[in-house]
Amino acid sequence: MTSPNPQQKDHWSAEAYSTSASFVPKLTQTLLRYLDPQPTDRVLDVGCGDGKFTELFLPSIAYVLGIDSSPAMIDAANTDYRSAKAEFRVLDCCYLDREAEGLCGGGVGEGKWDKVISNAALHWILRPESTRLKTLAGIHACLKPGGVFVFEMGGHGNVAEVQSALIYALVQNGVSVEEVRRVNPWFFPSVEWMTAALEGVGFTVERMEIEDRPTKLTADKNGGLAGWVRLMGARFLEVLPEEKREGVVRQVCEVLFTALTRVEDGSQWLGYRRLRGLARRV
Ligand SMILES: C[S@@+](CC[C@H](N)C(=O)[O-])C[C@H]1O[C@@H](n2cnc3c(N)ncnc32)[C@H](O)[C@@H]1O
Repeated sequence: MTSPNPQQKDHWSAEAYSTSASFVPKLTQTLLRYLDPQPTDRVLDVGCGDGKFTELFLPSIAYVLGIDSSPAMIDAANTDYRSAKAEFRVLDCCYLDREAEGLCGGGVGEGKWDKVISNAALHWILRPESTRLKTLAGIHACLKPGGVFVFEMGGHGNVAEVQSALIYALVQNGVSVEEVRRVNPWFFPSVEWMTAALEGVGFTVERMEIEDRPTKLTADKNGGLAGWVRLMGARFLEVLPEEKREGVVRQVCEVLFTALTRVEDGSQWLGYRRLRGLARRV
């Protein structure tokens, strides 16, 4: 199994995730409808995180393996949800093609999973251009013929206001725009790109849509927009020395205040734009 490089920092924490982004696993009703969980299903959950999303369909299926590159998130998932029908393993899904045989068990070309699901993780996993299509090919190889891949991720234009504010604030702090683009950890594809990519690795795409879904940020004093930027934007912030990072978080919050805040109650809403699809291995 390809574990993450031990030199690589784990940017995730189950505690910070629940303080700043507890809504992510919850806003998944449509994705779970696409999964259509059945009592005999063996499901692979790609980028499973702390298992809170996995837990939503776990009671309705036979078995799930959750895989994620964050040791902290996998620890939390194993602590809270490990059972005879649920396992969680640390795995860098950028290299899923190399893992396909191990994950499949059966012979080459014979996937063993009925379904593969992924929520809010593929925009991280597909970020490196060199592994993008190989990861999708790996998912295809993991599935039984007839099996389905259902996913939701950031689509083109997702959280555009935060991306713009982060780029602005980092450039203001002396980072070149090229460097900011290089460290940007997200890939938010369009319907067209994702459809062509999935078809290119052999899937038949049955559903593909973009949904604009303004999303209310948490009101927790350690969460909110600042907490969201610290957690989700960690790889942007790390281009700066530690002592300058909180200044950038403050600047991003100030720049975005007017656009995100509702006058009636002071709540803040981010411009989430979700790309959702269902593709079948024929
Ligand atoms: C926003 S969380 C989503 C977690 C979960 N699916 C949910 O709905 O709550 C994104 C997850 O993607 C994982 N991730 C990011 N890059 C990854 C990679 N290369 N391989 C596997 N997991 C990755 C992170 O560790 C994190 O747990």
